[in-house]
Amino acid sequence: MAAQFQIEGITAFITGANRGIGKAIASQFAKAGANLFLYDRQTDQLAGIVDEAQALGVKVLHQQGDVTSPEQVEQAVAAAEDGLGPIDVLVNGAGICQSIRFLDYTLEDWNRLMEVNVAGTFLCSQAALRRMTQRGRGKIINLASIAGRIGSKYRASYNASKHAVIGLTRCLAVEFADDGITANAICPGMVDTEMFAGVVAGDAEISGVDQETMLGILQQRALQKRLLRPEEIAGLALFLASPASDGMTGQALTYSGGIVMQ
Ligand SMILES: NC(=O)c1ccc[n+]([C@@H]2O[C@H](COP(=O)([O-])OP(=O)(O)OC[C@H]3O[C@@H](n4cnc5c(N)ncnc54)[C@H](O)[C@@H]3O)[C@@H](O)[C@H]2O)c1
Repeated sequence: MAAQFQIEGITAFITGANRGIGKAIASQFAKAGANLFLYDRQTDQLAGIVDEAQALGVKVLHQQGDVTSPEQVEQAVAAAEDGLGPIDVLVNGAGICQSIRFLDYTLEDWNRLMEVNVAGTFLCSQAALRRMTQRGRGKIINLASIAGRIGSKYRASYNASKHAVIGLTRCLAVEFADDGITANAICPGMVDTEMFAGVVAGDAEISGVDQETMLGILQQRALQKRLLRPEEIAGLALFLASPASDGMTGQALTYSGGIVMQ
């Protein structure tokens, strides 16, 4: 029997891999011997992870594209399978976040966020699942958030989108259990990434305080009074990609430094 956390030689398709949590997951997977297909609409930071993966001796391909484009997503998933073989694990890491007072939201603000966070997860999952179902195996890992479990000031669209991602995860778990496929979500708390820096800046501006003060206020919400490192979330993704999680599906796993206890 393979080691429980063994993912050597699998093919992982990771969206949002250019930076932040997606990049940390790519790095962790490469260290564990997985072959990678990296997909992001931005590629300015991809070179680092590509070099790292190549130095580790795993295969790595990458493509610039938007998770909201059905054509680009389908083309990338096909390219991943042509170049690396069947996709074993899909990580839906791409996402966006905004701080906006509820009464200031425009429909465009609302729709764009839902399009990336929810429709993007739907489209990438559908393209991968069309292939996974033919093989009777596969794992979907969705980056949700503690925002999918609670309410937050100034982030109505983001929190609604992450509640939707958790709901979508559960639906995939139900619909594809008989196909040997699992779907689980990760719900991080505050992770030290460019996205979170934007949250701090946006909340500080709306609240009329400086960013250091805002960061202190936000960190007080965690029992551990700190930001998480992207690598910490990547450890949970490794578990979900590995045989150790074979018996889990439809779950939303919180990793928050003690902000949320569910
Ligand atoms: N940082 C946090 O505190 C935190 C907490 C909970 C959940 N999350 C979630 O984790 C995921 C990653 O967050 P992060 O902090 O690393 O963010 P980030 O902004 O640092 O990285 C997100 C990546 O997604 C890419 N992306 C955005 N829109 C895209 C699109 N339409 N098509 C393709 N790629 C796109 C970006 O280019 C970027 O490389 C997101 O889903 C986010 O909501 C983050």
